Amino acid sequence: MYLWPPSGTKLHTVAPAVLASGIDRGQNDVMTLRVAVLTEKGGVGKTTVTLGLASAAQAAGDRVLVVDFDPQASSSMVLGVDPGEARGRMREALDAPRPGGAAGSIVESCWGAEVVVMPAGRDLRGWENSGSAQVQAHRLDRALKGIADLFDTVLIDCPPGLGELPTLALTAADRALMVAEPSVFSVDAIGPVADLIDEVWQRYNNRLDLAGVIVNRMPAVSAEAERQYDAISKVVGKRAVWKPAIPQRVALAEAASQSLPIHRLGGRASDVAEAFDQLYRKLKRS
Ligand SMILES: Nc1ncnc2c1ncn2[C@@H]1O[C@H](COP(=O)(O)OP(=O)(O)OP(=O)(O)O)[C@@H](O)[C@H]1O
Ligand SMILES: [Mg+2]
Repeated sequence: MYLWPPSGTKLHTVAPAVLASGIDRGQNDVMTLRVAVLTEKGGVGKTTVTLGLASAAQAAGDRVLVVDFDPQASSSMVLGVDPGEARGRMREALDAPRPGGAAGSIVESCWGAEVVVMPAGRDLRGWENSGSAQVQAHRLDRALKGIADLFDTVLIDCPPGLGELPTLALTAADRALMVAEPSVFSVDAIGPVADLIDEVWQRYNNRLDLAGVIVNRMPAVSAEAERQYDAISKVVGKRAVWKPAIPQRVALAEAASQSLPIHRLGGRASDVAEAFDQLYRKLKRS
């Protein structure tokens, strides 16, 4: 049974009921896992990993909220939301004076009732606000209060870089999940992300933990990729590098362009879907 009403296209119409039921869940709140997916470097696969995990969550029968925190709005588009229509929604949620402001900003995805999205509009670009850094850092956390608890998993797809939005995402998360490619540039970009996680943990959110690093775009055979994979293990420690790595597969780009979860692509993507299933199970145990 889903708490989230499965009918209608714009879920914000049921916001008050959703908010109330979220607050009433009491100790079940601890069951929700909030995960920020981030990298310093762009194009490494944050959106692909976020959506692959959302697909695995759906396949496992879990309810999942994807928070698209990137003004490029890639995950919103793959989940069937037009970023033009989403304009203003995220900012409204972040600016809402009361906790739970996300309720009016969440819409259904085209994947099915188990997956809903808090979409980004392009207006999120350059979002800045007045107030102290402390108040600002907690804005997404505040917006999700009582809302996140309605889901088994909340996945926050961050923009590339280490600016304000990733800071807000980490402040709202229980786990930081890094994505890396087995390439020298991607490996070099891990240290600064680890520093940001540490800073947010110290300043804003002592619930935050590093979940691990998912290696994406692993070629079937490449000595250089193997070397860089080992280099990632040296930077973050062997146990922090999650297995399996996501292979380099055109099916992932196809799923995105067709707005489909990878699990619905059938046999030719079954190994990738299985990899996300394993990673999702690990995430839930983390
Ligand atoms: N394992 C993979 N195999 C093949 N293509 C992939 C893989 N992972 C990602 N891609 C493709 O690479 C491109 C970039 O991936 P993605 O959008 O997930 O990266 P990102 O880190 O979210 O980028 P940005 O920093 O711009 O948000 C997309 O076209 C995606 O389909
Ligand atoms: Mg992205």
